[in-house]
Amino acid sequence: MSAEIVNVREYEAHAKQKLAKMSFDYFSTGADDQWSLQENIRAFGRIRIRPRILVDVNDVDLSTQVLGYRVSMPIMVAPTGHQKLAHPEGELATARATSAADTIMVLSSSANSTLEDVANTGPGTRFFQLYIFKDREYVAEVVRRAERAGYKAIVLTGDVPRLGNRENDKKNRFTLPAHLTIANFAGIGGRTNLLTSKSNESSLTTFNNSQMDSSVSWKDIGWLKGITSLPILIKGVLTGEDAVLAVRSGVDGIMVSNHGARQLDFTPATISVLEEVVQAVRGRVPVFLDGGVRRGTDVFKALALGAAGVFVGRPVVYGLAVDGEAGVRKVLRTLRDEFEVAMMLSGCIRVQDISRSHVLTENEPLC
Ligand code: FNR
Repeated sequence: MSAEIVNVREYEAHAKQKLAKMSFDYFSTGADDQWSLQENIRAFGRIRIRPRILVDVNDVDLSTQVLGYRVSMPIMVAPTGHQKLAHPEGELATARATSAADTIMVLSSSANSTLEDVANTGPGTRFFQLYIFKDREYVAEVVRRAERAGYKAIVLTGDVPRLGNRENDKKNRFTLPAHLTIANFAGIGGRTNLLTSKSNESSLTTFNNSQMDSSVSWKDIGWLKGITSLPILIKGVLTGEDAVLAVRSGVDGIMVSNHGARQLDFTPATISVLEEVVQAVRGRVPVFLDGGVRRGTDVFKALALGAAGVFVGRPVVYGLAVDGEAGVRKVLRTLRDEFEVAMMLSGCIRVQDISRSHVLTENEPLC
């Protein structure tokens, strides 16, 4: 099936053919008018590359370090929920494919697989993405479980005090089939079947509005540090102001993200605000980016603007939907190959060689 697919974007149409409408819409759409959804991708198209020629790139090396862990490339897997709607093996297939690619997977708090089952797929560097629900003791226990199971960092998602307005999920009355749960929080709120919807909203909205702790603030980084010794990344930063607060709160890294445009519409594309965040951080912690990465050149552009690495969300899910573990492998392989071409054709041998001088942003004239 995936042999005829030559780039990551083509997976989307194939995934659409395979999936039920409710599932495909859940994976593919964004909030409100989906302006930011398109902008995440469009904005990469406004950045141009300034290649250098006649550099010996024979020994090009794509590997880098993330929080001290070696990865084969600066392309990692973002947390995305409910992967068993894409494929029966869900997060387990994604975990195996990500390990095979020798890079990092972030497991979602909304996974349909337990974090222990994902850890048991085999060796691999994995982070756990956390939502802070009202039941703090439950959340603390999940963090302790992640630590025990060998996860290497907690990625705290900061942009969901409540769920964004996802109209397709509303129209479809999104809910999970009876055999699936939010596996790691299956008993929260004293219920086992978590996703039941009120008649006029998706079950995700019902669940989030009743369970999500919308009082979470910067001081809760301190609470999290009190219950785990794992490094903490904060996901969802879009401004220099919040980047400064993040560093002050003691996080170990920042993820510039607008949640794949599923939360607040009309936020800028993540690639458009990356440099603002990088400048505010002044090298104190690594800055990562997700949102709209679909090409190796996108990875190159993000690194040139100061990202230490990027995460991809939807392309991985589409690969999973089309061909399970093999599909995710191919998505990661395709991005890797394209990134290698971008590096070599720009005269970069190592990831660290990619510099600000290799790109022009939309605000910079060509000459
Ligand atoms: C997400 N994202 C997400 N983020 C998070 O912190 N926890 C989660 O459970 C989820 N779930 C989720 C489900 C689906 C279907 C999507 C598409 C996204 C956001 C995700 O981590 C990431 O920020 C975006 O997906 C990145 O944008 P792209 O690569 O999808 O354009």
